[in-house]
Parts: sequence; structure tokens; C-alpha cells
Amino acid sequence: HELQMNLEQIEKGGYDHFMLKEIYEQPSAISDTYRGRMLPDQGLIRMAGVDDNIERIAHARRILIVACGTSWHAGLVAEYIFEDLARIPVEVEYASEFRYRNPIISENDVVIAISQSGETADTMAAIKLAKEKGAFVFGVCNVVGSSISRETHAGAYTHAGPEIGVASTKAFTTQITVLTLMALKLAKHKGTISNSDFRFHLQELERIPEKVKEALNSDEHIRGIADIYKNATNCLYLGRGFNFPVALEGALKLKEISYIHAEGYPAAEMKHGPIALIDEQMPVVVIATKRGHYEKVVSNIQEIKSRKGKIIAVVTDGDTEVRELADHVIEVPETMESLTPLLTTIPLQLLSYHIAVMLGKNVDQPRNLAKSVTVE
Ligand code: G6P
Repeated sequence: HELQMNLEQIEKGGYDHFMLKEIYEQPSAISDTYRGRMLPDQGLIRMAGVDDNIERIAHARRILIVACGTSWHAGLVAEYIFEDLARIPVEVEYASEFRYRNPIISENDVVIAISQSGETADTMAAIKLAKEKGAFVFGVCNVVGSSISRETHAGAYTHAGPEIGVASTKAFTTQITVLTLMALKLAKHKGTISNSDFRFHLQELERIPEKVKEALNSDEHIRGIADIYKNATNCLYLGRGFNFPVALEGALKLKEISYIHAEGYPAAEMKHGPIALIDEQMPVVVIATKRGHYEKVVSNIQEIKSRKGKIIAVVTDGDTEVRELADHVIEVPETMESLTPLLTTIPLQLLSYHIAVMLGKNVDQPRNLAKSVTVE
């Protein structure tokens, strides 16, 4: 038993939990995922699974993304990126909903299935249904040789390495990395992105691991914020555009490991319901990075403030406007809008991690949850 304990300590590499280790592995996990695929100097992206099927994917009538949980959130981020860069219509579906309705799908559609484990039963069933209807199915999995990676026509692995913590962290950011590369590649093939813009994206993506490291430097500051709000019973997460799915993912992380009720919302939808919940007891986490509807989010923050909600804002380095309004700000480095989710996600992972630890919860193996859900 003692030996087993020691082995686990070694596996955790000096971190208290796998989740924390995996949060900190994100700079290298992201670069492992794009390394060898992205050649910024030559203005090239190589992805065998995409290259071999480029016509079929680039000229898809639409792309349908199916996934569950955190992978579904990565799919939502991808929807914004694919439509923005490659101008291909995208729909994102919960695999469980997709498989049980009568979906309209044909040979002209491309289905992208996203799954860390590659074993999720609902995602697998959605793939089988899509294949029956003649669609081309592309897998984005982390576990090499997993069932989903074998069932799909082609795919691209995330190179996150083993993810042990039940709450997904590095799988999420590497899924976004792979999907960004894919969207850029398709955009270049279709001519929906200029050569200079394409290169600029690659250069910026190459800087992301460094910027994730900078974002991780806020760890202590975030721990302080966690200490103030650890006893909250509810928490609201707001974001817009590319960062709306990040708000959903932030809320999911808090629910999963701290068991605090949390909800993510597009910031502008707040006035259609959630605003009724805001009082002095309610922490509201707002993603308010520069670019991407910044002024609109600032006015959402004013609305929360006038109802006495507590505001924890994730902002771009050097921001002054939100700092004046928010109770707490957490800075992330500046990057282009489509890449911000890779940075804004980091503080939200750390916030839920610290709250869960302070509440004495089992961070790596939260109650009632499983790492891979192989039953319906
Ligand atoms: C479970 C895990 C989640 C994960 C989801 C989808 O619920 O606890 O962390 O996001 O399954 O898993 P997959 O392996 O398909 O990405």
C-alpha cells in the first residue's frame, strides 16, 4: 500500500493533485499538439488526416460537431473558429441528442467527433449513425488507438498525454489547438484567409504556450479569490463570442469538483433571466478581454455592479476600465481574439481547483463522475 502511495506521488510529479499537474502541463501539451504540424516560417500546416481528405472536408455542405461534456465545449469554440476562418457552416450537437432524433445528414456533410478518451458511448453511437447516413467522420481524440479513433474515417490526435483528473483541463486546450490548426488549414485551402493573416495566426499560436505560462503566474492571486468565494452556493459565468463556451466550461469545472451550482451564459443573455439571480451574495465571473465585444461586456459588468453582484473579471494585461468596476481582476496576456479561449480558460480552471481543495473535495475523483462514460 505504501509503495502504491509513493508511486502515485511520483506520478503527480510534485503536485498535490493530477488536476493541478495537468493544468500546469498545458504550455507543453499545447506545443506538443502543434509541433511538427505547424511550420510558421514556411506558412504551412501539415495534418495527414486533413491533407488526405482536404477536398471532402473543405467543400463540406456543413460540418457537424458531436461530443459530450468538456469536449462539447471545445466543439463550440471550434464553431466560432471554423465559421470565422474557413467560412464553413458548423453545428455543434450533444452526441446524445444527435443520436436520438432523426438528424438530417448526408454524404455532403462532415462530422467531427471530439473525445478525450475516445470511448464515450454516446459519441460512439453518434459516429455510427453518421456513417450509416454516408457522412465523412473525422475524429479528434487524445487516447491513441481508442475505439473512436478506430471507428472514424480519419482524424487528428491531441498530444496532451494521459489525463488522469476526471475534470478535463489539458484535453480541452489541446482540442482547441487541433481544431484551430484544422480551421486554418481549410481556410488556406479555400482562400478564405490571406497569406499574411494565415502566417500571423501561426505566429500567434506559437506564442500561446509562453502566454499560458504567464497566465499560470496568477495562481496565488486566484487562490486568494477562491478563499473569498469558497462558500458561495451559486456562481454565474459570463462570456461572449469565442469566450462564451469558455464561460460554460468554467461553470462546468466549478460544478464538477466543488459541487457549487454554477451556470455559464452568453453575457448578453443575462438580461433574459439570470440577472434576476444577482444580489450581493452572487459571484459573477466575467470574461472581459480586449477585442471581441469588449465595450458590450463592460456594460454587462455595470449592470451586475448596479445590482451589487460580486465581479471577478478575466481581463487583458494592463486593462484599466474593468479594473475600476470589478471586485477582482485576473489578467491574461493579449492575443488575437480567436485564440483567447486558450488563455481565458486557465484562470477558471485554477479558480475551481482552489475552491475544491479548500472545501476538502476529492479533486481528482469527484463524486458521481467518471473519466470516461462508456454507458449511455
Ligand atoms: C465525462 C468526463 C468529462 C468529459 C466527458 C466527455 O463526463 O468526466 O471530463 O468531458 O466525459 O468525455 P470524452 O472522453 O468523450 O471527451
